[in-house]
Amino acid sequence: MRKKISIIGGGFVGATAAHWCAVKELGDIVLVDVLEGMPQGKALDLLQAGPVEGYDLNILGSNSYEDTAGSDIVVVTAGLPRKPGMTREDLVQTNGNIVRQVMENVTKHSPDAIVILVTNPLDTMVYLAKKVSGMPRERIIGQAGILDSARMRAFIAMELNVSVENTHAFVLGGHGDEMVPLPRYSTVAGIPITELLPADRIAAIVERTRKGGGEIVALLKQGSAFFAPSASTVQMVEAIIKDRKQILPCCVHLDGEYGLHDICFGVPVKLGSSGVEQIMEITLTDEEREAMQRSAALIRSSMAALEM
Ligand code: NAI
Ligand code: 2OP
Repeated sequence: MRKKISIIGGGFVGATAAHWCAVKELGDIVLVDVLEGMPQGKALDLLQAGPVEGYDLNILGSNSYEDTAGSDIVVVTAGLPRKPGMTREDLVQTNGNIVRQVMENVTKHSPDAIVILVTNPLDTMVYLAKKVSGMPRERIIGQAGILDSARMRAFIAMELNVSVENTHAFVLGGHGDEMVPLPRYSTVAGIPITELLPADRIAAIVERTRKGGGEIVALLKQGSAFFAPSASTVQMVEAIIKDRKQILPCCVHLDGEYGLHDICFGVPVKLGSSGVEQIMEITLTDEEREAMQRSAALIRSSMAALEM
């Protein structure tokens, strides 16, 4: 039997995530949005691409959570994107109200689902979603680190003129300007970039990675990135559905790991059919640990703005 994937929020990230899920034939898809007609129209359009692309899936657009009942995976992209000049944290109140309402419905209709949050400010929204739903941390996961690491990988590949397939990067911490790119753990064909590039070029890559989302917001002038964010989200969906045991940087509730308590934060995890199956604790230098603490402080200030 095919898995059921519900995507809440049928905007740029949600609809593009539905597209990647369909092309990869990961399961039947329900696309939900508050806008009447929009998810229905996009779902029908995506369904009609099936004969060309060769996927046989049920793809439904809806304004009702009843259609999502019994989902195996729920992806939450509902919420406003930022505008030029805004930080992700500026969205906390508006998107907090949306995520609260979405999670009440998800918990009611799909209590056993694994939930992947995308809505910004990401780390605070994962924390809120966990609080509202009461779900265990294994099943409430945020997408950010895969995107931030993909951006770093793209910049490394551009810098060294090598295939992106040869690159690996680890960006941990919160999905904000204080995110923590780790050059020591970022490699090309297994070789740390610290052995391949001078310090000033690494610093430039780190800086561009940190500002990667803002760079695209400034170019688009309306809305934010969606191709790479949705592809990153669907990598998580695929790892779970195929029980891949894949190690990926994801946002998860920490209970002492990395010296952090009661915060949702980006760390390497093993993703499989149960969701987060393991949190990997990698060794950090004092400087890297301090960077994690600075990033956590930014997340805590965004969390403090919300009554939870
Ligand atoms: P968008 O504006 O294109 O789509 C958002 C959709 O949510 C809209 O269609 C809207 O009608 C819908 N919506 C609003 N309230 C809703 C509710 N209560 N229930 C269901 N649907 C509702 O925005 P986009 O570009 O798709 O971004 C979505 C969110 O994802 C934003 O908060 C953005 O900042 C975040 N984002 C996060 C990334 C990450 O790495 N974590 C990367 C890219 C975007
Ligand atoms: C990004 O990093 C907006 O969080 C989104 O592109």
